[in-house]
Amino acid sequence: MTLTVPGPAEGLLRDRCELEVLGEILPAERYRAAIQGADALLPQLRDRIDEVALVAAGANLKVVSNYAVGLDNVDLPACTARGIYVGHTPNVLTDATADLAMTLMLAAARRVVEADREMREGRYPGWLPDYLLGQEVTGATLGVIGFGRIGQAVARRAAKGFSMRILAYDPIEVARTGDLEVEGCSLERLLVEADFVSCHVPLTEATHHLIGKAELTSMRRSAILVNTSRGPIIDESALVEALQSGEIAGAGLDVYEREPEMAPGLAGCATAVLLPHLGSATFQTRAAMGELAARNILAVLDGGVPIAWANPEVAEHR
Ligand code: DGY
Repeated sequence: MTLTVPGPAEGLLRDRCELEVLGEILPAERYRAAIQGADALLPQLRDRIDEVALVAAGANLKVVSNYAVGLDNVDLPACTARGIYVGHTPNVLTDATADLAMTLMLAAARRVVEADREMREGRYPGWLPDYLLGQEVTGATLGVIGFGRIGQAVARRAAKGFSMRILAYDPIEVARTGDLEVEGCSLERLLVEADFVSCHVPLTEATHHLIGKAELTSMRRSAILVNTSRGPIIDESALVEALQSGEIAGAGLDVYEREPEMAPGLAGCATAVLLPHLGSATFQTRAAMGELAARNILAVLDGGVPIAWANPEVAEHR
């Protein structure tokens, strides 16, 4: 287990296993040395579980249970080929992440961070009709890119809470979601029509820089772009240019291309609301993620399969 996590995970594992908590994110080489001989790994999203790490871990390794829903740090095909189960933490973080996407949307639209700074720095001149005007959220059009669990949860909040019209683009399909009115459309149309664009696709080769210069140019000048998925979905330097030139009205970002760094110029963009990867950061959610990650491991050690697993096809390789 790379780091201690809130909640019962550590206790659950200690009861049944010989648990080693590394206590820090180690450089790749030291991580590989540390995991030698492990039966199970509970990595953080900053640990690289690639072919070299799997070789270093050795033949005992049965399960990798990522403390995240995103699996871009895990070489899934390599795990599958070696018969290693891959678990992760979907569902338990859907609401917290959707809440944060709404937070970013509202904060960027209503210029909350800029306004807070005005107050603290004593620049509020008294009420004025044209002071710090932002974008109307209620009734606006939201474009959701990636209509999985979190994208749908954001759409529900936006439609039910803010009477927003929902457009959705999904590389696989826009699933029907009960009574929610959603119009599936192309990415091109979504970008042209939406007042708010919120990204919820996993990071893969196909989604790397899904939003680049051309896509940003096609968006409305009044539009706001929100990203709570993975940084490399957006070409961050192109976004800085779009914000600097006023090509879009603002952005709400929780994730970055090269975390913990930001692209040069981004910190100076007043219309960007910038958070340090907090999508799942509530006490309750982080504890639930830990419990699920631990139970994924215990299920495999008991001879079963992870409760939430990403590679069911591993069965053919065992
Ligand atoms: C994830 O789970 O993938 C998030 O980025 C961290 O909770």
